[in-house]
Formats: sequence, structure tokens, C-alpha cells
Amino acid sequence: MAGALQAIRYERGKLEILDQLQLPTHSEYIPIQNTEDGWDAIKQMKVRGAPAIAIVGCLSMAVELYYMDFKSRKEIADYVSDRLKYLVTARPTAVNMNEAATKISSMIKDMAEDSDLSVSDFKELAIEAAEIMFEDDVTINKDIGRYGAEHIISNTEDVNVRILTHCNTGSLATAGYGTALGIVRALNERGKIDHVYCTETRPYNQGARLTAYELVHESISATLILDSMPSMLMAHHDVTAVVVGADRVVGNGDTANKIGTLQLAIVAKYFNVPFYVACPVTTFDPCKASGKEIEIEERPHHEMVSIKGQKIAAEGINCWNPAFDVTPAELITGGIVTEFGVFKPSEIKEKLASILSKNKE
Ligand code: MRU
Repeated sequence: MAGALQAIRYERGKLEILDQLQLPTHSEYIPIQNTEDGWDAIKQMKVRGAPAIAIVGCLSMAVELYYMDFKSRKEIADYVSDRLKYLVTARPTAVNMNEAATKISSMIKDMAEDSDLSVSDFKELAIEAAEIMFEDDVTINKDIGRYGAEHIISNTEDVNVRILTHCNTGSLATAGYGTALGIVRALNERGKIDHVYCTETRPYNQGARLTAYELVHESISATLILDSMPSMLMAHHDVTAVVVGADRVVGNGDTANKIGTLQLAIVAKYFNVPFYVACPVTTFDPCKASGKEIEIEERPHHEMVSIKGQKIAAEGINCWNPAFDVTPAELITGGIVTEFGVFKPSEIKEKLASILSKNKE
């Protein structure tokens, strides 16, 4: 296997990210020195993908904190909470940054009141809370990969499988390995991949620029298709399963993911191809009952009508540029793959609640 691609480089006090706007032609790491840099990198999609957004957001807070002095634990807790709230405002649809902000802020607030740590030890604890997310992410992704690969293998008669995926969900969208692309990696490690198809993923071309880059990097047999081709593909080639990531999975299993996911799910249902969603449990938002409650980010029109400054659409045309769509639970026929196993969308809320409460005990 080729050396792993790394979207995020971190050591205490220093954070750099691979500028994904320059891929695949240039690999440049850019410094993120504070939460303003973190917010901008997320907003401008220099880093993207739900898990990577949360990790970079929290690590940008950790780097900022490292160089600051505080008078009390409370001052640190208030500062952390304020900065994390700010980072959540960069992009609204992926829930992971919000989930991390809520978890870290409430943990730090409780400990500011109850612990007798010195101010400098307490600052270290806040920094560690962000670092742990980064450290844990690859292990979580490998568990997702293993569960997903085993589920797909045991539910098909195909000796080797053909997977269709959308957007980018690999090393570049996470701390490493990936979610949906982690399942592809796990299948490949088991010698089970016949072929992978990845969609271009307009308008940001995450499929052509990032997923294709990762697949070529790993020497996995793969073909790029345009976003208009999945029905033609499923009509003429046997696809074993469609596997995508997620930006937010709500209580009833409805799932927000990159625009174009819904049409893939509809086509997969028509052709009887199992449709899987892969994500860590931090992408789960049980407080929202259905997909209707998910806020969908709308991106600027220039992202649709020009590529690297080159106009590709008629001047003066109206545009609509939602960055995500919502796939109803009933179309997620394969299941939702998490680090705790594969769940039917209808049972995910109940089953995860029970697993997570047992883990807390
Ligand atoms: O707009 P993006 O590039 O941040 O959207 C990314 C996606 O929709 C991914 O499929 C999703 O975040 C899962 S990343 C492991």
C-alpha cells in the first residue's frame, strides 16, 4: 500500500492542513494558527468532509489556546466555549463540529467547577480534549471499514465486489483511512475489490479531485464517472453496492450528504442495489426527528458557473447551489455503518442510545 495521504498535520502548538482547493495538481500544506484561520479554511473548503471539519476546527482552538495565558479555569472554559461556538457557524449542515463543540464545552465547564487542577494543567486538559478526537478518528474509521466490508461480503454472491461511491469520504475527509472510502479500503485489504466507480461530484468535484486521487494513490482499480451517469452505470454494469458518507443522520435515519446522494439512492432502489451510509456516531443527531429539520447549506453561485476563474455557464443565468441533499431512511437499504456495527435506519436511534449509555457506565 502507498504511504497514507494526510489532510491534517498536527503537533502541540502547530497545525497544518493540506489545501484541498489545490489538489490534485498541487500538494501544499498551509498553517492554521488560530480559530479565525480554522473558520476560514472550513468555510472556503480548504478542509472539507464532516469529520475533518470537526477535527480541524477543534485543533485550531487547541493551537490558539496553547499560546494564551489565563487567570482562572473558568476563563479557559468560557473562552473554549466561545471559540467552539464560533467555529460551528462556518458551515451548517455537517453536525460533527457542533457535536464536538457541545461535548468539549460541557466537559470543560463541568471540570472548571469541580476539579482542583492548576490553571496551566487545566489548559492542557482542554487542549487534550481536541487532540483525542484527532487520535481516535483513524481507529473509528477502521472499525467502520471492517463492519462495512464484512456486511457487504456476507450479503452478496459476488466473489469480488463493485462499489459506487460519491463525493470524498477518504483520508482527506477524516484524520485518515476514511468512512465510505474506508469500507472500500477494507474490502481492498481483503482482496475483495473488483472495481470502484466514483462520481465527479459537481460543483466542487470532490470525486474527481480527491476520491480519484486517493484511489489512484492506493492503486485500487477504479473509474471516474460524471454525476449524470449512475443510472446508465447501474443499467449496464453490475454494481454490488453503493456506499456514501454522511454529514448528518437524524433520529429516523434520514441522512444529509453531498448533493447528488439522493438521486443515487433512488436509482439504486430502482436497480435493486443495496445502498449504504457510512459515518462515525458523531454524525448522528438524534435531537432532530426527520430530515425535514436539517438546515441545508447553500453555496455561492460562482462555484457553479466558473472553474478556476473560467466561466462555464451563460452570463446572467439564475443558479441554485445547495451543497447537500437528504436521503430518506427508506432508501438506505443496505444499512448505516458505524464504528459500533451496521444498523437499519429505523433502529439506529434506539440501538445507538443503548450502546452509548452502556459505554458510559
Ligand atoms: O461539502 P463537503 O465536501 O464538506 O461535503 C462532504 C460530504 O458530503 C461527505 O460525503 C461527508 O462529509 C462525509 S466525509 C467522511
